[in-house]
Amino acid sequence: MKKYKLAVVGATGLVGRTVLKVLEEKNLPISEYSLFASARSSGKNISFMGKNYIVKELNEHSFDEGFDFAIFSAGSDTSKKYSPIAASKGCIVVDNSSAFRMDSNVPLVVPEVNPEEIKNNHGIIANPNCSTIQAVVALKPLDDKYKIKRIIYSTYQAVSGAGRNGVLDLENGIRNYADNQNYLNTYTSNTNLKNTTYELSKFPHPIFSNCLPHIDVFLENGYTKEEEKMINETRKILKRPDLKITATTVRVPVFNCHSESINVEFEHEFDMNDLVDALKSFPGLVVQDNVKDNLYPLASSVSGKDEVFVGRIRRDDSIPYGVNLWVVADNIRKGAATNAVQIVEKMIML
Ligand code: A2P
Repeated sequence: MKKYKLAVVGATGLVGRTVLKVLEEKNLPISEYSLFASARSSGKNISFMGKNYIVKELNEHSFDEGFDFAIFSAGSDTSKKYSPIAASKGCIVVDNSSAFRMDSNVPLVVPEVNPEEIKNNHGIIANPNCSTIQAVVALKPLDDKYKIKRIIYSTYQAVSGAGRNGVLDLENGIRNYADNQNYLNTYTSNTNLKNTTYELSKFPHPIFSNCLPHIDVFLENGYTKEEEKMINETRKILKRPDLKITATTVRVPVFNCHSESINVEFEHEFDMNDLVDALKSFPGLVVQDNVKDNLYPLASSVSGKDEVFVGRIRRDDSIPYGVNLWVVADNIRKGAATNAVQIVEKMIML
């Protein structure tokens, strides 16, 4: 069997490190790896596949040595600059950024949903936004069976989706809260809170004890870019360019795993048992739905898993053919790293 050569770009970041972990778990027929990051990380050691790898600074010549595949998780600017260079040298890039997702020449792929798109690549394949990936895994079997008419997304997204600085903001907020609690316990007669402040690294407001209805930048129409991504990417992946979709995306003080409430309206009547069976038999999707035992997907139990979990499946009686779903997935794994590695795996198997 042919052995491949793969580059991991952004290997020091939250997603990049998880890409390495998933690669270790999958053990694909890859004989050579190179790990790249910014100049800041050049020379850093990363233990991977039982070996010590030295991180290299990404530059224009990084792809001269002939890679078969590269997984980019280093942000849009890096992808825009270096993915075309890699592709021009015969390397197929799986890009985790939003740089090329809506480019009509670039397939946007979730392997369980639209693997047939992989062959249409011209050197770059885009990995969808994390909140979109988990949604379309749950929606695809339902669209195939009942034809979706409208979707309402409401998301509850973890800070890990905002990278290392997002996680730092939540950690600092918790520390600050704990400091104040200790102070109150020690000096109960003093009603003034100790004025400990901490600098925010990522979010415009403290994420601890808050839900921020603001992910990515605001657009002219009042939506955020994250909301726009969910709408446009869902349409592209499901090949339903005119599908009616609205979204409200919210950052919540959860470290890892995005949760989503998805309200779906269908064109056709459905039988609830058949609908649940369609979800149960779809690859990569796990139904966890037994409210008598308080069983439904939770961020804390889904963290570290590769599947998408769905529960709270119930009819929406306010419309003719509607259903509500609660969908949870590990946004760093299935929402980014795992999905990218699965795309590489599919290409190897093709
Ligand atoms: P570095 O660690 O050297 O900054 P996160 O999203 O968790 O913050 O991670 C971002 C990833 O993208 C890191 O691995 C980071 O490397 C990498 N990165 C950021 N800017 C560049 C760049 N200009 N070239 C290559 N990698 C970059």
